Amino acid sequence: MCLKSRHGRVAERFKAPVLKTGVGATSPWVRIPPLPPLVLRPKRIPKVPSFADLLIAFPGKPGDLPRRSRKPARILRDAGKTGRNMGVAMERSDVAKAWEANADVWTRHVRAGHDIYRDALNTPAFLAMLPPVAGLRGLDIGCGEGANTRHLAHLGAQMHAVDIAPTFVRHAREAEQDEPLGIAYSTGDAMSLPFAADSFDFTTAFMSLMDMPDQETVLHEARRVLRPGGFLQFSILHPCFVPPHRKVLRDAEGHPRAVEVAGYFDRSDGRVDTWWFENVPLEERQRAEPFRTPRFHRTLSDWIAMIAGARLVLERLVEPCASVELAAAEPVVADTRVVPLSLIVRLRKPI
Ligand SMILES: C[S@@+](CC[C@H](N)C(=O)[O-])C[C@H]1O[C@@H](n2cnc3c(N)ncnc32)[C@H](O)[C@@H]1O
Repeated sequence: MCLKSRHGRVAERFKAPVLKTGVGATSPWVRIPPLPPLVLRPKRIPKVPSFADLLIAFPGKPGDLPRRSRKPARILRDAGKTGRNMGVAMERSDVAKAWEANADVWTRHVRAGHDIYRDALNTPAFLAMLPPVAGLRGLDIGCGEGANTRHLAHLGAQMHAVDIAPTFVRHAREAEQDEPLGIAYSTGDAMSLPFAADSFDFTTAFMSLMDMPDQETVLHEARRVLRPGGFLQFSILHPCFVPPHRKVLRDAEGHPRAVEVAGYFDRSDGRVDTWWFENVPLEERQRAEPFRTPRFHRTLSDWIAMIAGARLVLERLVEPCASVELAAAEPVVADTRVVPLSLIVRLRKPI
């Protein structure tokens, strides 16, 4: 099977190796029982893809960038040093502008319940893994419209939260006015957090670090604002199973059967993905712009190197997988029974 690169070229070297099985197998080591036939449905290419199947398979083109930098951004780490970097370098200010442009529609859609991965799977898994936070001072980094920050406040934490997009912060503050939980929201950049050292018992970042250009600096910043012994828990798109190319392959009934991935070593420095949440109704798609989200993909070994570089200690990893019951109730998340979509990581600042 040939895979398209995100620049439309066919990468012959991605061709899957031909493994012979059973009678006629060329190697005694290759004894793979035949899988039931994989029935691929005829390709339908919607104008704008939704998250699960098509987000990564049909990434935005360079023309989708809010504004191309004239020169490579100095602030961006040269991730390409350790691998091919086919991404587009993007200024920090452009990342902030992209999120600001998404913020109104994003808030409306998540509050209408369209982020099913978040609400049905990722946040419950994140909260299940979280140590007790009642009475602790917490900081939520990249809080968006604040739904997950509010979950933490409901668990009894005294919450601060920060986001780079002022419109997200405005929506979060409005929710705080409607239901006061004592949360203090600030507009700010996770790469230079506006808080003093040792201010928090814990920090969180729900599905936001892969959207930031310099994750190692964010990890250093999270460590700086944590008291010794405090923890950072974050979730990200899974580096192994959501690299720049990802496509869910389905059987004849539409059930996820396999997930095709490629471009794992292509660190993307601000490549813009253009997409909708899966269940956004047609009327809404006609009246609103789709999201344009800059992505900063890193490999699993990059993440481990960044964690070590920030002198944080890895405590726990969880890869959320929908139960049979959840996949039946919310078919959008059924692909997480094949491979995980997200990775949740807990790190500790040594005493
Ligand atoms: C995928 S959204 C997740 C929002 C929220 N945590 C949630 O789970 O609903 C990513 C968020 O990260 C924020 N973000 C991106 N870059 C940031 C940065 N450098 N500093 C702070 N927030 C940032 C975006 O504005 C956006 O709200």
